[in-house]
Amino acid sequence: MPLEALQQLERTIEKRIRLFEQKNGIRLDDEVRFIRSWFERPLSTGAVTPSGRVLARTMARYVNPAIAGPVVELGPGTGPVTEALMAEGIESERLVLVEFNPTFCQLLRARFPGATVVQGDAYGMHRLLAGLLQQPAAAIVSGLPLFTKPVRMRLRLLRDALDLLRPGAPFVQFTYAVVPPIPKKMAGVRADASERIWKNMPPARVWVYRRG
Ligand SMILES: C[S@@+](CC[C@H](N)C(=O)[O-])C[C@H]1O[C@@H](n2cnc3c(N)ncnc32)[C@H](O)[C@@H]1O
Repeated sequence: MPLEALQQLERTIEKRIRLFEQKNGIRLDDEVRFIRSWFERPLSTGAVTPSGRVLARTMARYVNPAIAGPVVELGPGTGPVTEALMAEGIESERLVLVEFNPTFCQLLRARFPGATVVQGDAYGMHRLLAGLLQQPAAAIVSGLPLFTKPVRMRLRLLRDALDLLRPGAPFVQFTYAVVPPIPKKMAGVRADASERIWKNMPPARVWVYRRG
């Protein structure tokens, strides 16, 4: 086949891929990155694909853009929830993204140039974010795969997150599980759940924890 015809074929395939991505609300290159990350670190990646649009939007809608302060995202991965937060009106300059995987960090820096990307372990958020947050956070949104950690670590993560938040501000976490990702009965903490989001693959639920 002549070179020109090959290039034309390549362009047609590219165009069809983009149309498929737009129609289905996914990015195939992100899917590939995610699968690769899952093969390399199944426990910390925690999912085989990035969150779908409906789940990302549901999480972002728990964050009120009118409340002042930084918005912290734990485990943003390739950034579907980050994008949804921005679509809800959170400026990228307010976003602090804490991600373990250096390849995802690189991608996040390129994709969200205004955001602060911190490469590190979200379970050490107090130390990691000390000096970085000039005021209490307006929300903390988490995509961390919590069930790979013991309950006491999850409880400590929630307590640390609530300490960084404004009083009454939300800690938002999604899960594929049927039980809450952090036990509901923590003194002084209210937990609420969304409906199950069947349009996500796998179906998920969003939990919101607040002090007070
Ligand atoms: C289930 S994925 C969710 C990614 C993205 N939020 C989404 O919804 O598609 C979990 C993400 O958390 C990151 N992660 C896992 N453990 C972490 C930790 N201790 N600290 C920071 N990031 C972590 C993984 O690298 C991965 O990007």
